[in-house]
Amino acid sequence: MNVKRVTPQHVAIIMDGNGRWAKQRGKERYEGHLAGVEPVRAAVRAAVRNNVKWLTLYAFSTENWGRPIAEVEAIMELFCRTVVGEGDDLARQGVRVKIMGERTNFSPAVLEMIEQIESVTRKGERLTLVLAFNYSARREILLATQHIAQRVAEGKIAIDEITEQLMAEALMTAGMPDPDMIIRTSGEYRLSNFMLWQASYAEFYFPEVLWPDFNEEEFDKAIEVFAQRDRRYGLVTDES
Ligand code: IPE
Ligand code: IPE
Ligand code: MG
Repeated sequence: MNVKRVTPQHVAIIMDGNGRWAKQRGKERYEGHLAGVEPVRAAVRAAVRNNVKWLTLYAFSTENWGRPIAEVEAIMELFCRTVVGEGDDLARQGVRVKIMGERTNFSPAVLEMIEQIESVTRKGERLTLVLAFNYSARREILLATQHIAQRVAEGKIAIDEITEQLMAEALMTAGMPDPDMIIRTSGEYRLSNFMLWQASYAEFYFPEVLWPDFNEEEFDKAIEVFAQRDRRYGLVTDES
């Protein structure tokens, strides 16, 4: 139904601009990723403070494996190091972490860190932080389709039982609400293979700020922008 929700329940962020931030300072791209860790902490704090229940951060796309090996390795190493350091603090804040993406291509060390962070934070109830890591929306839809087709082939479901809900439950976001707002930093206006199914009625917001410069104030600004939006879902409302 067309209920006006002033605070978004689910905010998703495409964290972009780390490389450009580093380049502007004559630094290696890796240093941009490193500088992108503190804004993640800030986004989590701001999400908790604003009573946002789901925060999804696009951290690494399936396509990002195609970057120079040194950069990919640096990102993986940074992920491991950050997870080791942040787990307890996130748990204290009531944050539950979920890693969303295919668990392929990762080294055993990364897989171990994924399990560790999910386990250490599993009791968090204030906010679920979903890290899209080795995520591709097209792959997600493809895998869901294969899963459903398999069940049809086995005679477990009939074709007319394939509903939007069944599809949603076969996606990696099963059990999550759709994002109310999708933010992409750095002045790029595209989804880059992110949440193609779930974004149907998301509000989009494209601040110019590069991800390493993102902070709690920027998050609050996004929340204010969201509150001004009139979501119509194809209907006619008093404001239209
Ligand atoms: C986003 O920053 C982080 C990842 C994709 C891993 P980029 O690394 O894409 O930064 P730009 O777009 O090159 O500035
Ligand atoms: C999208 O950013 C992926 C993440 C932010 C993790 P990219 O920088 O990889 O996307 P493109 O290449 O600009 O579309
Ligand atoms: Mg980029």
